[in-house]
Amino acid sequence: MKRIGILTGGGDCAGLNAIIRAVTLRAIQEYGWEVYGIYQGTHGLLRRPVGAMKLDLSFCTGNLLRQGGTILGSTNKGDPFVYPMTDGTFKDVSMDVIEGYHLLRLDALIGIGGDGSQDILRRLAQRGNLNLVTIPKTIDDDLSHTEHSIGFMTAVDVATEALDRLQPTAASHDRVMILEVMGRDAGHIALATGIAGGADIILIPEIPYQMAVVAHRINSIREQGRNFALMVVSEAVGTETGEKAKVMDREGRARYGGISQYLADRVTDLTGAETRFTVLGHVQRGGQPIFQDRVLASVFGVHAVDLVAQGKFDRMVAWQNRKVVDVPIQQAIGGYQAVDVKGSLVNTARGLGIYFGDEKN
Ligand code: F6P
Repeated sequence: MKRIGILTGGGDCAGLNAIIRAVTLRAIQEYGWEVYGIYQGTHGLLRRPVGAMKLDLSFCTGNLLRQGGTILGSTNKGDPFVYPMTDGTFKDVSMDVIEGYHLLRLDALIGIGGDGSQDILRRLAQRGNLNLVTIPKTIDDDLSHTEHSIGFMTAVDVATEALDRLQPTAASHDRVMILEVMGRDAGHIALATGIAGGADIILIPEIPYQMAVVAHRINSIREQGRNFALMVVSEAVGTETGEKAKVMDREGRARYGGISQYLADRVTDLTGAETRFTVLGHVQRGGQPIFQDRVLASVFGVHAVDLVAQGKFDRMVAWQNRKVVDVPIQQAIGGYQAVDVKGSLVNTARGLGIYFGDEKN
């Protein structure tokens, strides 16, 4: 009998519990293994006694598939290689995390995370000779070698609904509505939301914009007789001169948010239009996963367990060409997947008349 661990690292998103369920069902029903859910990413492996619970089939009935967040908890802080101590110093505690894996007597670990968490898990696995399989999740959808990561499609669904709700109030008050969405350094959420929600303008970090072009588009919409306009903006878009709306956390990581306020002021200055902005924030991460994330989470969970059964480690499960596959973790996290500015979605948006702020007037 094998004992496997599962943990969720990085920012949470919808669909994590659906993965935990799929892993548990497959590991127990098909292989008769024991499954341990580790609390709060690698933090659980640092605790003594190790922070973990045994997952059995009773966890998998009922609500788990539908439930947002992660029942195991997660963290996007505390890289064990530079772990922040209470006295303000940093310490390498990676060997303690590795010890936690052995204390749990694990034969393998399934780690669910974005590029940052997967990078940490891989370095731990290499250092401690641990058997690791990873599953991609991030609402930002910026991991390469997989068409989608868990959480992205639900985030876009939430943002699209927000735009659906903003449109009638924009039209009722003759306003320009700006919806700011997450995405860290990639504009995937903004792009998909803008197309699905009928935006007039989409601003993403991959395409530099000019306010004069944005203003021109808003003025031309009014000249055509429409009294409102919808803009979707990725949080990582900067000002025209490139300054980002961000704060730095203790570990030196940037947290974005608030660029839509600057954009709203500029739109009003340049067009005279009454403008409002909405920063959607973590609403995009919570709530029930939509069916696409539930299906993908189930596919990824089952495949990850099968990889462990085959002794195939250091692999990330991925979705390519309508099939589940697996790729070396290093390959997946080594290539950042920003929006392809010449790709089908950008071309589609342009084909619909959506502006990115780089058009020639
Ligand atoms: O990476 C996922 C993400 O939601 C980003 O889109 C966003 O910039 C960031 O995490 C927010 O992080 P936090 O939850 O620490 O505020």
